Amino acid sequence: MRRRHVLQAGAVAALASGMRTGPSAAAEPLRFPAGFVWGTASSAYQVEGRGDSRADCIWDSFARIPGKIRDGSNGDVACDEFHRYREDIALIGRAGLKAYRYSISWPRVMPEGSGRTDSRGLDYYDRLTDALLEAGIEAWVCLYHWDLPQALQERGGWGNRDIADRFAEYAVVMARRLGDRVTRWVMFNEPSVHAIIGHGLGEHAPGIATREAMLAAMHHQNLAQGRALTALRGLGGHHRLGTVLSLQPVKPAEGLPANIPGAEMWDAVWNRAYLDPLFHGRYPDRLLPMLGDLVRPDDLAVIRQRTDFLGVNYYSRMHQKTDPNGLVGSNWGALPRGSETTDIGWAIEPDGLLEMLLDLRDNYGNPVVYVTENGAAFRDVVGPSGRVEDERRIAFLHDHIAACRRALDEKVNLRGYFVWTILDNFEWTYGYTAHFGLVQVDRSTLKRTPKASYEWFAGVAHTNAL
Ligand code: FCB
Repeated sequence: MRRRHVLQAGAVAALASGMRTGPSAAAEPLRFPAGFVWGTASSAYQVEGRGDSRADCIWDSFARIPGKIRDGSNGDVACDEFHRYREDIALIGRAGLKAYRYSISWPRVMPEGSGRTDSRGLDYYDRLTDALLEAGIEAWVCLYHWDLPQALQERGGWGNRDIADRFAEYAVVMARRLGDRVTRWVMFNEPSVHAIIGHGLGEHAPGIATREAMLAAMHHQNLAQGRALTALRGLGGHHRLGTVLSLQPVKPAEGLPANIPGAEMWDAVWNRAYLDPLFHGRYPDRLLPMLGDLVRPDDLAVIRQRTDFLGVNYYSRMHQKTDPNGLVGSNWGALPRGSETTDIGWAIEPDGLLEMLLDLRDNYGNPVVYVTENGAAFRDVVGPSGRVEDERRIAFLHDHIAACRRALDEKVNLRGYFVWTILDNFEWTYGYTAHFGLVQVDRSTLKRTPKASYEWFAGVAHTNAL
């Protein structure tokens, strides 16, 4: 059993003291190291819209099921970035951001998920990438942000082991096409969310709700990642290869000892089921009895890889209770008493980000990490000038960026911070009702209007200081 350095909540709180202050004019600026990357992230289904050609992905089918998306919407229009990418790149550039993590829509470039490519889709990513580079913004390409081609879902999706080869095939198509310009390749975005919420709980596409489907999606994404990393390394070139995980410290709800088993199990399926195979070549002991013959000999050798960076998406801790009827004997528990939350009920816990980064330092060899998503959904409060005065978002970002600075002091190998996200967009089951953007998008005209947080974050990026 791997020895895990466990940080006591009190120790993290002490490290984090002074962090939760929000911006203050009087304080000394917190400076970041030269070359620290300030960026932003998005995903294809959430911003692109159909454009001229995209084939269906599993989110198109899922959004057609009545009641699945809060406002009955879908990603057909989204932010129409497919047509408006120049305007969006200008916004990113004006904010002083030097990196954009966008994802490729697999069905846009390979309508059947394998074999035939669609030049209209490939051309779009050429245009987008070229425009970014012209603006001096580094292109971070994510290969998979939950939008599997529907055609592959019909062949079993992530439940079918063959998908690992299909994914590697697609990764090679994209690297051959963009590899002369793109050096940053992210294999997956948050495979745990896709496996658990999409295949275990049925609340995201493809809407499957069994433990077996969740475990298969987990393992096959890991395997696909290993195959794709191997294939991309084989192409040579200057690629920097990595992946992005949703990493959230898990706590027993209400601090109750009875909830410890539920919390430990959830930590295993949410965090460790992806970290441990990649860094250590094994699954957490707690999961072994459930895996059956899913994991074949040699799979773990394929999955364990040397990557160039790890992306951490952090929003809040998770507070779990033991529940025999839960997916793996665990269920969502109550938030700590008095928790502040965002408008969609996510607890605001900037010290949880520090805790997670220290965990990576202590248990996974202090890899090169980037915070590849962090942000908050708040209702738009329009000020007298007509601008959205999103002071709460500014405070949220401030406190999380301060946690990053604290992590650097603690020798975490942190190299950058990507805000989620530049534009209000299609927020999965929330449709267009949850707003994470620094820029408001009018749903009838698609006009982009920067919020106060946009100017604030631009100040951080331009000065490299908080
Ligand atoms: C993350 C997703 C991203 C967005 C944010 C709010 O889990 O990667 O697409 O939905 O949450």
